[in-house]
Amino acid sequence: MTARGGAGIEWTRRLDAEIDALAPLLRSLRRELHAHPEPSGQELLTTAKLETLLAERGLSSRRGPQGLGLLVDSPEPVDGPRVALRADLDALRLQDGKAVDYRSQVDGVMHACGHDAHTACGLGAALALARLAAEGALPWPVPWRAVFQPAEETASGAYDMIEGGALDGVAAIFALHVDPSRPVGQVGVRDGAFTASCDWLEIVVRGQGGHAARPHESVDPIVAATQLIGALYAFVPRAVDSQEPAVLTIGRIQGGYSANVIPDQVELSGTLRTLSPAVRERVKQRIRELAHGLEQASGAQISVEFRRGLAGVYNDAAATAVVRRAARDALGPENVVEIPRPSMGGEDFAGYLERIPGAMFRLGVRSDRVGKEPLHSPLFDIDEAALAWGAKILARALILWAGETGKGDGKDRVPFESDADARR
Ligand code: NI
Repeated sequence: MTARGGAGIEWTRRLDAEIDALAPLLRSLRRELHAHPEPSGQELLTTAKLETLLAERGLSSRRGPQGLGLLVDSPEPVDGPRVALRADLDALRLQDGKAVDYRSQVDGVMHACGHDAHTACGLGAALALARLAAEGALPWPVPWRAVFQPAEETASGAYDMIEGGALDGVAAIFALHVDPSRPVGQVGVRDGAFTASCDWLEIVVRGQGGHAARPHESVDPIVAATQLIGALYAFVPRAVDSQEPAVLTIGRIQGGYSANVIPDQVELSGTLRTLSPAVRERVKQRIRELAHGLEQASGAQISVEFRRGLAGVYNDAAATAVVRRAARDALGPENVVEIPRPSMGGEDFAGYLERIPGAMFRLGVRSDRVGKEPLHSPLFDIDEAALAWGAKILARALILWAGETGKGDGKDRVPFESDADARR
């Protein structure tokens, strides 16, 4: 529709032109962040860089807790709630294996989850919204907030920003995540469950150390730990309906220091990922029961602790409908694909969605040239044409949401929706 125009949709053409003009800036920001990544909880330079870019364009911002992350509000006086976008800033502890001039300059740290791209998309949307508002080119008032958060990978940044007031006066929130399984120019959308909940599991098996030749004089925590892993893997899947996902993985086992000594204790840690709150509770209970049973069988003491629980991202139906319309308009309906199944990965965007409605969508970043490597791979990269698409969809989503719930008279939505339908 942007190419064809029509009554009441002038703003979409103006928005796209503004974001296309910003594309070189978004690309250079993404490359600069890619070359200078900062791990979770240390995003000071990233925050400062963003702060400067915003200030140069007349937008003031306030920092999140510990000076990390930024909250940026539309400067116009506000009557009613804001609509927010969220972008995450942090990189992973991973060695960049690419041979490009923007490869990471920081040993062992890399933007392998595309958060550099999320930041660029969020900046593009915020700058474009500010410019259109200043020109009087928005169809109705759009009170917005951009939330640039640290520490997504450690599942704490969203909660820190919320404590710092990120959601005060905010009615809904939108975000995207890059997706190398999709071509650039395509997005994936989904109502309801979008990512799994994730619980970290810490188990300590305490026995009684002794000589390897006389195990009867000790309580061997190694055999208890291995039996426990076997029991968890055998019985947890049989405790839940096979149609309901529950993924338990023990990723760390630590115990002992010598071939001929039975140690005192063994530590295990792992993650539990589920989609349904009822299954989550059932599996946690089953893990405790199995540990208790193994205590009886082995004579060891077994403590089980669940830490840093992260809820699943649950997309609000009305917010997802807004994303769908925004993406269909920006990309054409044929490029907006329904995601059949939720991801078993975790995402701390869930923290916002536990408090207010919102939606996350997946942004295609793969082309023939670049972007084929999976997330968290040392060769991960994106086709940067995705940056402008991401910004256009985020900005449209905020405008449409404000039009539906705020001061928009809704008239513009009629041609907007029917036009998209006509192209299907
Ligand atoms: Ni990520």
